[in-house]
Amino acid sequence: MNKMWAGRQTKETDKIADDFNSSIHFDSRMYRQDITGSIAHATMLAHRGIISNEDKEKIIEGLTGILGDIESGKLPFDLEAEDIHMFIEGELTARIGDAGKRLHTARSRNDQVAVDIRLYLRDEVTIVIEMVKELIDALASQAEANKRTIMPGYTHLQRAQPIVFGHHLLAYCMMLIRDVTRLEDAVARMNYSPLGSCALSGTTYNTDRRMTAELLGFDGIMENSMDGVSDRDFCLELMSAFSIIMMHLSRLSEEIILWSSWEFSFVELDDAYTTGSSIMPQKKNSDMAELVRGKTGRVYGDLVALLTVLKGLPLAYNKDMQEDKEAVFDSLDTVKKCVEIFIPMIKTMKVKADNMYRAACRGFINATDLADYLVASKGMPFRTAYKITGGIIGYCIEKGKILDDLTVEEYKSFDENFDEGVYEAISLENCIARRISEGSTGYASVDGQIEYVKKFLGK
Ligand code: ARG
Repeated sequence: MNKMWAGRQTKETDKIADDFNSSIHFDSRMYRQDITGSIAHATMLAHRGIISNEDKEKIIEGLTGILGDIESGKLPFDLEAEDIHMFIEGELTARIGDAGKRLHTARSRNDQVAVDIRLYLRDEVTIVIEMVKELIDALASQAEANKRTIMPGYTHLQRAQPIVFGHHLLAYCMMLIRDVTRLEDAVARMNYSPLGSCALSGTTYNTDRRMTAELLGFDGIMENSMDGVSDRDFCLELMSAFSIIMMHLSRLSEEIILWSSWEFSFVELDDAYTTGSSIMPQKKNSDMAELVRGKTGRVYGDLVALLTVLKGLPLAYNKDMQEDKEAVFDSLDTVKKCVEIFIPMIKTMKVKADNMYRAACRGFINATDLADYLVASKGMPFRTAYKITGGIIGYCIEKGKILDDLTVEEYKSFDENFDEGVYEAISLENCIARRISEGSTGYASVDGQIEYVKKFLGK
């Protein structure tokens, strides 16, 4: 009976139960945070005279040695140990004896694990934020290179109005900027220490929770010990933010897949981020983008899995909560992989500006501008102008023409107000240039958006 938690038990657990119960194969990744948390805890225990300074020194030395040995590969994780917390405490006690057994005074694995996950996610989210910023930077560079590249903008996947490609990409920059702030908000709410909540009700020892909170870089302590050990809403918040990032990447993936098709031919991905077919030699498939789109479902699934795990749990800790880690880690890992692949894929993407322009010339995307011309220069009510324009489009379709092909006489046959000025009004370049509203696809607005993004990135 060598289990650290074996109090009243008189019998060994079944091997199958041990395996089923064990979490070390997925929580071992928190070894560093577990050690950091324990060092802070031991420091506080000694400060409050709950353990001796001598024991504290031994504990810190032992834990530091363990950390070094894990990182150098000298100390492999013992998969028989139930979880990372047991593994490290067991190893510490094996190394320093009784002092190691004092570390768990005024602490429980319940608050220990709650601290570890927070510390781990705090570190990881910092990395994710940097990665997303790099992706924003890559998109902004493409946007800048294409701030004058005219293409059709779509609604209902039907050509709608002319835009510049830069404007389209900047839309994604703005979404990803919000994603960054969402992650920052979630971390700010998460950054309170549950340490010292102990099993659920706090402790009879004269601990100093604020001291450990400060040592660990938390902004304060969790005010309620039961909340401290029961709450996983910080995981859910991060997973929601991850899901939204994935939703954004998935939409962009879908567009990249469409744009790469022969039907659109608006962009070409670098060979390094595409695959061929084992049977069709002509194929160049956007597998990376497709996988990102696919993995979005997986990240949503992780979120729903944890929401479902938590929904019926009575306070405080229940072992169900061990399921939090696989979900949150999988969602984190997946987002990191997807952002990682997206950055070079966007950086190396070739834009086929000529094809975009050609597409912009078809589909009557300057029809709104034709109606606006009648309104602005002829004082016609918009609804009337809209109707007349609709008639002209019908005529063009019938004749196989585009608006730019019609003669002034043809225009005049629809309304006598038409004159030579119509051509200038509907030229695609002018359609863009005349979009002067803030946030529009107009040149000044797009330049301003690029500045906005650069400022956000601190450039
Ligand atoms: N491995 C456990 C988890 O991840 C640690 C907490 C165990 N606490 C307990 N009372 N059994 O949730």
